[in-house]
Amino acid sequence: MTAPTLDRQALARRYDLAPSTETAARTHDAYTRMSRVVTPFDWAIHAPYVEAINRLKAERNAVILAHNYMTPEIYHGVADFVGDSLQLAIRASEVDAEVIVQCGVHFMAETSKILNPAKTVLIPDREAGCSLAESVTPADIEAMRVRHPGAPVVTYVNTSAEVKAVSDVCCTSSNAAQIVAAMESETVIMAPDKHLARNVAKQVPHKNIVWWDGACVVHERFTAADLRQFREGRPDALIIAHPECPTDVVAEADFSGSTSGIIDFVRRERPREAMLVTECSMASNISDELPEVEFVGPCNMCPYMKTITLEKILWSLHAMEGAVEVPAGIAAKARLPIERMIALSRPKA
Ligand code: 13P
Ligand code: SF4
Repeated sequence: MTAPTLDRQALARRYDLAPSTETAARTHDAYTRMSRVVTPFDWAIHAPYVEAINRLKAERNAVILAHNYMTPEIYHGVADFVGDSLQLAIRASEVDAEVIVQCGVHFMAETSKILNPAKTVLIPDREAGCSLAESVTPADIEAMRVRHPGAPVVTYVNTSAEVKAVSDVCCTSSNAAQIVAAMESETVIMAPDKHLARNVAKQVPHKNIVWWDGACVVHERFTAADLRQFREGRPDALIIAHPECPTDVVAEADFSGSTSGIIDFVRRERPREAMLVTECSMASNISDELPEVEFVGPCNMCPYMKTITLEKILWSLHAMEGAVEVPAGIAAKARLPIERMIALSRPKA
């Protein structure tokens, strides 16, 4: 994969990107959604990019779909739609605009392209990978099928298009247990996240789940001992963990859910203190909306998600660089498990 050739001088010639308190004042509405986590000084730096991107979006007939792990200036400043990976996939399939800028990681952009192939899908940094997606290949999946004949393969959306193409159905953190429970076979293969698979196994005990040995570099670093120690110091805090965390971490938590599930839970419960055992931008993105909640405790940064910046978004829209392509044969096969997942996730009438 080659990185887009970001040309700062070309951007500076075309757009007025110098820090500006006037532009900051003009974009104050967006700033009010992140004023607790972004200083006025930093907003004066971001605001010219935000304004340039929002203008360029209109010129290019583009929409920005952003994952919940994007930084606040992206999440609140330029995104047209924010969500977890299931919500982003569903939204991508419905986009009418010509161009989708995927502010997230590469597998999310591939999913958008697969579901809406007529659109140009741009990823502002092609290096925005994912430790889970990189941990498993189609050959690995085929080898698991040989070891467990007849067992359906449920792959996490955090996989390449090639891996999806050899899968039976996809899942995300918001529907994994529901998808596995819907499989007819008693034995189900889950790949690539061993922690998600183990967490699902606890929720769906009548299934014999076998899993691939992959993990998320962000969530695997949390430990149950850390959480216990944290709880001693903050006994009233609600602890909320993403299901990519190890099972003993999830067992220590008060709630576990997808990134949007976590946000919805905090919105509903409005605890005085909350520890979000996930990526750091999650708390930043909702702290203005929920000033009564104090976000406490450690979080981890996703190095892949953090490669996406306002400057790279502007460059990819300006130069129309970073277009994601999925070979037609692969896309046709990968589309089926994603569509099966979406169908199985719909609430029953
Ligand atoms: P969600 O589907 O919960 O947004 O998770 C995606 C992801 O990559 C979390 O690490
Ligand atoms: Fe992948 Fe983990 Fe980053 Fe999510 S947080 S994109 S699973 S590495």
